Amino acid sequence: MGKVYVFDHPLIQHKLSYIRDKNTGTKEFRELVDEVAMLMAYEITREMPLEEVVIETPVTTCKTNVISGKKLGLVPILRAGLGMVDGMLKLIPAAKVGHVGLYRDPETLEPVEYYVKLPSDIQDRELIVIDPMLATGGSAAAAITALKKRGALNLKLMCLIAAPEGIERLQQAHPDIDLYVAAVDEQLNDHGYIVPGLGDAGDRLFGTK
Ligand code: PRP
Ligand code: URA
Repeated sequence: MGKVYVFDHPLIQHKLSYIRDKNTGTKEFRELVDEVAMLMAYEITREMPLEEVVIETPVTTCKTNVISGKKLGLVPILRAGLGMVDGMLKLIPAAKVGHVGLYRDPETLEPVEYYVKLPSDIQDRELIVIDPMLATGGSAAAAITALKKRGALNLKLMCLIAAPEGIERLQQAHPDIDLYVAAVDEQLNDHGYIVPGLGDAGDRLFGTK
C-alpha cells in the first residue's frame, strides 16, 4: 500500500494556516501557495540519490556529491495544480512539465478529462503529480490512470491538503503510489469540499467564482 507523508516543517504549517484563512486575498494566496510548493519540493526531494564526483576547488581536488538517478517531471492537474508549478521549478529548474486537465462534475463529483500533454520520455522520468486538493480522490486517481496508460512507471502525488476519503480512494485505485501532503483534514462535506480545507483552490488562485 502507498504511504502517506505529512510535511510538518514549521514554515509549511505556518504558511498553510494563511492559505486556509478566508480573509487571504488572491495575490497573497498565490504567493503563499508558491512558497509552500517550493518548501514541499525541498522535502519531497530529500531521498534523491547522490553520486560521487571529483571536482577541482580553487584550493585542491575533492570528492563531492551531485544528484543522480532518474530525471524529474512535474504534472500539475489543471487548473489548480498550476499554482504549485513555479514554486517547485525554483528548486528543480530542469524538470519537464506535463499537464493533465480535469474538472469535477458538480453533480456527480466525478472527474472529466479534457486535456493531456506530456513530455515524450515520461517512462524514463520520476513524475510528481501536483494538485492542491485531494478531496474524493477522483481527480488524482484519474490523472494517475491517464499517466500510467501513457507509459508512466514512476509516480508520486503531492497535495497541500488531503481528505481521508481521498486517501482511501487513491490507495484503492493505485496502491503503488505514495502521497506527500502538508495536512490531512477531517472529512468531506455534502458538496465534496474538504473540511476545514481552504475552499475552492482554483477559484482562490485565479480569482474566479
Ligand atoms: C479541484 C482540485 C482537484 C479536485 C479535487 O479541481 O484542484 O483537482 O478539485 O477534487 P476530487 O479529489 O474530489 O476529485 P476542480 O475540479 O475544482 O477544477 P479546477 O482546478 O479547474 O477549478
Ligand atoms: N476542490 C477544491 O478546490 N476544494 C475542495 O475542498 C474540494 C475539491
